[in-house]
Amino acid sequence: MDKFIVQGGKRLRGEVEISGAKNSCLPILAAALLGEGESVIENVPNLRDISTMVKLLRSLGARVTQNNGSVSIRPTNALVPLAPYKLVSTMRASVCVLGPLLGRLGEAEVSLPGGCVIGARPIDLHLKGFEALGAKITIEHGYVKAKAASLRGSEIYLGGSFGSSVLATGNVMMAAVLAKGETLIENAACEPEVVDLANFLVRMGAKIEGHGSHLIRIQGVKKLRGARYQVISDRIEAGTYLVAGAVTHGDVTVKNVTPEHNNALYDKLMQTGAVITKGKNTVRIQVKKPLKPVDLTTLPYPGFPTDLQAQLMALMTTASGISVITEKIYPDRFMHVPELNRMGARIFLEGSSAIVTGVKKLSGAHVMASDLRASAALVLAGLVAEGRTDIHRVYHLDRGYEQVEEKLSRLGATVWREKE
Ligand code: EPU
Repeated sequence: MDKFIVQGGKRLRGEVEISGAKNSCLPILAAALLGEGESVIENVPNLRDISTMVKLLRSLGARVTQNNGSVSIRPTNALVPLAPYKLVSTMRASVCVLGPLLGRLGEAEVSLPGGCVIGARPIDLHLKGFEALGAKITIEHGYVKAKAASLRGSEIYLGGSFGSSVLATGNVMMAAVLAKGETLIENAACEPEVVDLANFLVRMGAKIEGHGSHLIRIQGVKKLRGARYQVISDRIEAGTYLVAGAVTHGDVTVKNVTPEHNNALYDKLMQTGAVITKGKNTVRIQVKKPLKPVDLTTLPYPGFPTDLQAQLMALMTTASGISVITEKIYPDRFMHVPELNRMGARIFLEGSSAIVTGVKKLSGAHVMASDLRASAALVLAGLVAEGRTDIHRVYHLDRGYEQVEEKLSRLGATVWREKE
């Protein structure tokens, strides 16, 4: 197992190229199972989660080849509708093969993912959507079994206690594109990754309207073809590097991004006193004054993303005042709090809110990464901490950040990786 070492105290400066969006790629790679022929997905980051999805697609009977950021998927005539526990347990997003398998084969058997460190994460909305399309769902021996002689379009309300669901919207959309007739998904998720998936499905021949809004309308078609598609860039990776610029009082430009995907983040960063400059495919952050505290609440898109909550909290640990950070998507997503406190931060948890009192300085320590975004927050804290921070269990970071030490080093950070 690797650990990640950060020697704090450097101001980050320069430009950083942002990779393709992990959370777009995962459902898009699964959607390629729906095509009769080869799909080629471009701008795919080289990440652990992507390798897991490739393994899963191969185990389902697809021919998959990877070449320098592009992945070719050719579903064979012998697709197997079974996603085993071994793969699903290492990556929850494996559940997004349910929709394509059900749509294409009329059956799917996928291990239930169970909870994870950021919360319970049920899949009831996915299943509600499939049932509305006419599938019979049973849960046996830890597996979800979905079966349908033929799927038919339906009106489906996909809201849960925490609002819309990104992967449930994607999953139901992937099943509905081959259903008979019209499907309406109400309270659909509006995240850019859902729009990206819909755009890929349209490229394959699907008839979808309204993606990006809360009402998605799908007219089922008889079959889909394979397609070539370039995924959007990763707004969460981009946001993480902008926060790295802010926390070190630096001057960082993220390149190869869609600037409007992170408006909620810029709003908060500007409230801290940072200067944000948007270009056509770039965003620059400059921080020249002490950081002011900000309050924030995570919400579905276009609200502030839960996937940047931990990073913003790391930023607020050294702001001059008190910030209140409230989590409305995953009320328990605070595993980074005790670790940040070990570095000298002053954070109290009160229900699903964290009250952060800014301190003059953090100090380097041994800390433990617990999930992907919590790991990113610890790296950010390490960048401003006095001395050396050792971040253990860094494999979490490798699930979602491509070449993180290379990218940070190019911006002037002192970071390296060691075997434990
Ligand atoms: N929810 C339900 N029932 C469901 C599905 C979701 O109650 O059937 C709840 C969840 O427990 C949560 C809320 O709805 O409280 C929203 O969850 P959502 O379904 O939108 O999450 P997801 O689709 O499983 C994706 C990302 C997550 C990201 C969330 C929210 C992928 C592969 N994952 O998960 O990304 O946090 O949307 O934006 O797209 C990450 O990258 O670090 C990550 C966790």
